[in-house]
This record gives sequence, C-alpha cells and structure tokens, in this order.
Amino acid sequence: MDKKVTVVGAGNVGASVAQRVAEKELADVVLIDIVEGLPQGKALDLQEAAPVEKHDARLVGTNTYEASEGSDIVIVTAGIPRKPGMSRADLLTTNAEIMKGIIEQVAPLSPDAILIIVTNPVDAMCHVAFETSKFPKNRVVGMSGVLDAARFRAFVAMELNVSVESTHAFVLGGHGRTMVPLPRYSTVAGIPITELLPQDRVDALVERTRYGGAEIVDLLKTGSAYYAPAAAAVEMADSILKDRKKILPCAAYLQGEYGIHDLFIGVPVTLGRDGVEQIIEVTLTEEERAALNKSADAVRSLVESLEKMGL
Ligand code: NAI
Ligand code: 2OP
Repeated sequence: MDKKVTVVGAGNVGASVAQRVAEKELADVVLIDIVEGLPQGKALDLQEAAPVEKHDARLVGTNTYEASEGSDIVIVTAGIPRKPGMSRADLLTTNAEIMKGIIEQVAPLSPDAILIIVTNPVDAMCHVAFETSKFPKNRVVGMSGVLDAARFRAFVAMELNVSVESTHAFVLGGHGRTMVPLPRYSTVAGIPITELLPQDRVDALVERTRYGGAEIVDLLKTGSAYYAPAAAAVEMADSILKDRKKILPCAAYLQGEYGIHDLFIGVPVTLGRDGVEQIIEVTLTEEERAALNKSADAVRSLVESLEKMGL
C-alpha cells in the first residue's frame, strides 16, 4: 500500500482497527503495544487472514516505534478501558500519562501525520496529544461523535424498522454523559425523527445513546465496546486517507466556534487530506446551546485537572 497507518494499543479497539484498515486496503498497518508478543501475534494472525480476505495490506507488530516512521495517520487506542462502575473520567490520570509517553515517541517520527485519538476520556486526551505533539490543530482529532451517532442511528433504525443507510444522526459535545444528541437534526431519509416518533420514544433513544458506552460495559463486564468504536475510527481514517471530505462529528479544537474557546469537543467537521479542514457551525436553540455549554464545562474541568497535575 502507499499509505501507512500506525495503531498504538493492540488491545480490543486497536486490533479491530488494524483488521478493518487492512481488510479495506486503506493502508499498511504498524501495530504497537507495550506487551511483548501481543502486537506481533495479532499482526501476524491478521496477515495470515489476508489470503482468505483477499487483501494485500502488510501488517507489522512491534513494541518499539521505528517502524511507525512516516505514518500518514496514527490512531492512539492505548490505555486502560472502563470496567463496570467506572466513568470515562476515572481513566484520566493513567491514560494521560500513557498518551503523553506515546505522543513523545510517535510524533517526531511522523511529523506530518494526522493523530486520531481514541483513548478515553477522549476530549481531554486530545488536549494531551495536541500539547505534546505541538501539531497544528487540524492534525489532532478525537473519535467519539462518529460512534455516538452510529449508536443513535442503530437505535433509530431498530425502532422504525428501516435500513441504517436511510438514517442520519447528529451528536454534539463531549464523549460522556453530557453529550448532546440533537433529534431535530437526526433524520430518516431527510425527515427529522421528531416527525416520525412520539416525543417519549425520541427521548428514550437519546437517553440510550447517551448511555450507549455504559450499556456495553455492563454487558461485557471486563471492558468496553470495541467493534463499533473501531469502525468509527476507521471511517475517519478512510475520509482522511481518501480525501473524501466527509462531514463527521469529531472532537476538534474550537477557538470561538459555538462560542467555545481553546477546547476539544465534538462538533461536525469536514475530514480530508489535511485532517480537520472545516468546522461546521449550525444554529442551536437556547436549550441545545445550554446543553453544549454544560458538556464543554465537563470537558474543561478534566483538562484543568490535567493542567494542575502538569500533564
Ligand atoms: P484494551 O485494554 O483492550 O487495550 C488497550 C491496550 O493498550 C492494551 O493492549 C495495553 O497493553 C495497551 N497499552 C497500555 N499502555 C500502553 C503504552 N504506553 N503503549 C502502547 N500500548 C499501551 O482497551 P480497549 O478496549 O482497546 O480500549 C482502549 C482505549 O480506548 C480505552 O481508553 C477506552 O476507554 C478507549 N475507547 C474510546 C472510545 C471512544 O469513543 N473514544 C470507544 C472505545 C474505547
Ligand atoms: C464507549 O463509548 C467506552 O467510550 C467508550 O463505548
């Protein structure tokens, strides 16, 4: 392949990302983890699936960073995931230290890469990646909204018994309980779901979306979701690698957009060759704006506690 994607963290999300990137022939993949043998084993296993899956992507697993040199995209999934009873914020300090160490190693080897951050709490982890890499703001982006919107779309499709392909969902804000799914911008074949469902069902689907991550954690018990998160991160990588300019909800660095300053938070962006090429602003009602501000406050308090710890 003429593109290279490095995936840091060869756990559940990372391995699924590697699999999807390779099987879609988006790029060659370098899979990195601190556990000896783990990235090597998973990369080799995926490589051995290539003849059956009929792809020519090369996968390398490693515990060091040399092979990542010159990556087009680095997707960071390393860190600890949630267990039942934990919030994403509980992962803050441990994952911030892990993120800083990774970015310090990966950024100098791939100075032109676009960083897609997955590790939670993702909005705050984008700050760590941004500060550590010193990359321009368009080349650091967090994965959350694509996942949250996918969950919302799946629930709408199940509720109305329609194809997921006819659904579109709009989610703003931080990746947490304060996220802001916007039903009036969420549609089936262009029709707002508010016209297709009674208010109590819309509210129920919004609530299920908000707790979508926790629903999976409670079922799995030993970790958090990974198939849908990996699919979401790879949709972002695909839009960047192929310069598709898809408009996707992602954690992007805001400098005044939506009235929010110097904060990564989920908004619709155009994702292309240059990463976050545009931030799309939509008009919000007073209630929606208040919900977004509340979500921004929650992210800001995480970022401030990291700053107090010098991270
Ligand atoms: P996992 O535990 O299966 O994998 C994490 C991997 O990171 C492990 O293999 C571990 O050895 C590795 N790791 C830890 N420290 C490392 C380091 N310094 N360098 C390289 N590798 C290191 O966890 P999973 O399920 O893959 O989740 C990973 C992260 O992604 C978690 O923080 C989770 O909360 C987050 N996540 C975020 C989502 C989002 O929407 N933004 C969705 C799903 C997961
Ligand atoms: C999720 O939403 C854990 O953030 C992860 O599934």
